[in-house]
Amino acid sequence: MAKLSGLLLLLLLPLCLDSLLAVESRDLLSRQLHDSNAYLTKEEHWFDQTLDHFSPTDHRKFGQRFYEYVDFFEVAKGPIFLKICGESACNGIVNDYLSSSAELIVNPKGSVEVLLNSCSSEVKLHELEVVFVIAKKFGAAIVSLEHRYYGKSSPFKELTTANLRFLSSKQALFDLAVFRQYYQGYLNVNYNLSRESPWFVFGVSYSGALSAWFRLKFPHLTCGSLASSAVVLAVYNFTEFDQQVGESAGAECKSALQQITYLVDEELKTDSKSVKNLFAAAELKNDVDFLYLLADAAAIAFQYGNPDVLCSPIVDAMKNGKNLLVSFSLALCFHMIFAIFYFINIF
Ligand SMILES: *[C@@H]1O[C@H](CO)[C@@H](O)[C@H](O)[C@H]1NC(C)=O
Ligand SMILES: *[C@@H]1O[C@H](CO)[C@@H](O)[C@H](O)[C@H]1NC(C)=O
Repeated sequence: MAKLSGLLLLLLLPLCLDSLLAVESRDLLSRQLHDSNAYLTKEEHWFDQTLDHFSPTDHRKFGQRFYEYVDFFEVAKGPIFLKICGESACNGIVNDYLSSSAELIVNPKGSVEVLLNSCSSEVKLHELEVVFVIAKKFGAAIVSLEHRYYGKSSPFKELTTANLRFLSSKQALFDLAVFRQYYQGYLNVNYNLSRESPWFVFGVSYSGALSAWFRLKFPHLTCGSLASSAVVLAVYNFTEFDQQVGESAGAECKSALQQITYLVDEELKTDSKSVKNLFAAAELKNDVDFLYLLADAAAIAFQYGNPDVLCSPIVDAMKNGKNLLVSFSLALCFHMIFAIFYFINIF
């Protein structure tokens, strides 16, 4: 059976990869067409960041990448908008007014009240307007700092466990504070300012949590923050998340997912190599890493609104006595294409 699934996969995987490449090149084409508008700026700037904010003896620095967009900046009174970059490479300041993520963010269901009352004026925005629009309105400069360890802001060439010990949201918060002071100083020198600008921070998801925490931790460095879909509450053993996945899946798909979990658990006991190969995950030596990969890959189909891509093939396989694990691996492959689309559009 394992041999047969391996053979099937060999036959089918190229199909999936081909469509993946086709999708990517099509997407690349459309991105190139719009690329001139996709970013407000991609011009890199660098500054020396402290590696360990909590050690009195370690004075090492690393280069951290940032971007600035000052076309709207009203030097005399304009605020600074800091768009926090999260857990991915930060390749510029995205023109979120034009990108499709703006349509998602401006979704009326997610309407957010932004209070800029401690800033220069009292304004209440009932719908979250995108940073670009607000920056224009307020004569703001927009700056964005790449998160340590992502993109080109990695302090080390190799991400060994030892080297990773300076990767934490706490260090990242202090990165933002140090950057905020650095950039204010730079503005004061270059624009001959003798005042502190009002700073407002923005973030989404993980960077949304950083945005909220930054305001709490450094109230003297900001006049406010926007924390959109911010993941501020860490829950140990968050089984409610999986319960929600089960509910969203519906009875049949939930049952198929439970059977898949059972089959994977069994195969890990008897032939862990084949089952990992089936998911192109032979490199994951640790079984828990492998189980996490499968669980997360399935969960994000529901989190990002593509349940059918995952559920249709596995429910069909379950009903028609096809190999459930092979169907699952293919479904994940196709679903990842949608996930890549989603992430390209968002970030
Ligand atoms: C900077 O500001 C000071 C005081 O307002 C002024 O005397 C000086 O001429 C300004 N310098 C530049 C380069 O604008
Ligand atoms: C996680 O929570 C579930 C449900 O409450 C429980 O059965 C399980 O033992 C918990 N696991 C850990 C590792 O705490």
